[in-house]
Amino acid sequence: KVTREVIEGMAEFELDNNTLKKTMVLFLDNIERGLKKETHESSIVKCFPTYVQDLPNGTEKGKFLALDLGGTNFRVLMVELDVGKCDLKSEVYAIPQEFMVGTGVQLFDHIASCLADFTKKQGIQDEKLPLGFTFSFPLVQKGLRSGLLVRWTKGFNIPEVIGTDVVQWLTEAITRRGDVQIDICAVLNDTTGTLMSCAWKNPECRIGLIIGTGHNGCYLETQANAELFDEPDMGSGKVIINLEAAAFGDDGCLDDLRTDIDKQIDNDSINPGKQVYEKLISGMYLGELVRIYTLKFIKNGIIFGGQYVDIFEKKEIFETSYISDIEADPEGSYAKTSETLKILGITDASEQDMINLRFICQAISKRSAYLTAATACVLTRKVNEPKIVIGIDGSVYKYHPYFRDHMMEKMTELIDSDYEFNLMLSEDGSGRGAALVAAMAAMRAKQ
Ligand code: BG6
Ligand code: GLC
Repeated sequence: KVTREVIEGMAEFELDNNTLKKTMVLFLDNIERGLKKETHESSIVKCFPTYVQDLPNGTEKGKFLALDLGGTNFRVLMVELDVGKCDLKSEVYAIPQEFMVGTGVQLFDHIASCLADFTKKQGIQDEKLPLGFTFSFPLVQKGLRSGLLVRWTKGFNIPEVIGTDVVQWLTEAITRRGDVQIDICAVLNDTTGTLMSCAWKNPECRIGLIIGTGHNGCYLETQANAELFDEPDMGSGKVIINLEAAAFGDDGCLDDLRTDIDKQIDNDSINPGKQVYEKLISGMYLGELVRIYTLKFIKNGIIFGGQYVDIFEKKEIFETSYISDIEADPEGSYAKTSETLKILGITDASEQDMINLRFICQAISKRSAYLTAATACVLTRKVNEPKIVIGIDGSVYKYHPYFRDHMMEKMTELIDSDYEFNLMLSEDGSGRGAALVAAMAAMRAKQ
């Protein structure tokens, strides 16, 4: 049995359906204001039009390059699309920590050099291929191939890039090298990539979510409702909206459900006061939550007999992936939990310690799943079609053993209508999505 003090200490993570429904009302209100010209400024959820006006129809063809920056891995990809087929080659490149907080030239030169390395390895350095750039940070787009950075998130901080066009930075870095020929066709968010990639497989997909290092969502909106999008209707009457949902709560509207430790994590972060919703949900913060709560229980002598304060005092020592590992142990078994503890240097944990640790992980991951479910319900109602598929990517969703179950269960309780919905894992990341957006842009340019 879980120790009483642990149950009590984690009770602040339990969000009942009333609280979740209030959160849904607030979220919807933010979206409604974010979409309208008159109220856009007042909304924290920015609802940026993406300039992507169509979903794929499966006839997209060609060979494309894609860059995928802003998740756990920076990847360069080559994607070959043919009717119903998608062949993908990719390579992961590291982004050194100092480039995440260095200069714009450093970061974009590094990206360009990875791109050059990849094209050489694939033997395509002399082909001028169209490229889709998945850049997973808030952008105000001026077109499909132009995006001004609003702010950095998820541990990146290069102030001089803010307010400038990231496609321009990339173009200049490529030109500086002079050894790669690229036609940058589109810049897009990872949520858009996810939606496109899932819609290619399932035409009922209308929503894209990320629950990974960061958290965000996008959905297909009727163009007339997207007042900030002044472009001509290209026939579909729709446009994808990148919500930048992570900022929800930056105006204090979620303060009642934030715990003191949520606030501490925010204060200690690189961007205090910003991305409040993301800090309750995403992989960059969940491990820290477990670490700090566990430390509190250790200090009270409730876990590990009060030992290992020094281990749990180390910032970021408890990785978010450990939560998935610990929760994957079946009832009554602690194989993965004790392996995880061994990595941390703890070999003498009792069964009671492991029960308690699992409970802490469960409380924290469940709150994340329930909040995500609330957001997903708002979007499902907004899309307002009888059958809706929600495409989802990100390491938390992908690797946590019960995240999907928790989301399904909570959405079923909260949706309050007859919508038939399903959650679909996006298996090829944003690479295929970026290629699809680039392909559709190329097709349109030819028309
Ligand atoms: C990847 C996508 O699969 O998931 C990225 O290709 C996305 O575009 C990422 O940013 C999100 O998950 P994580 O866990 O890597 O941040
Ligand atoms: C952050 C970014 C957002 C992205 C999300 C998921 O919230 O601001 O653009 O979609 O992380 O990667």
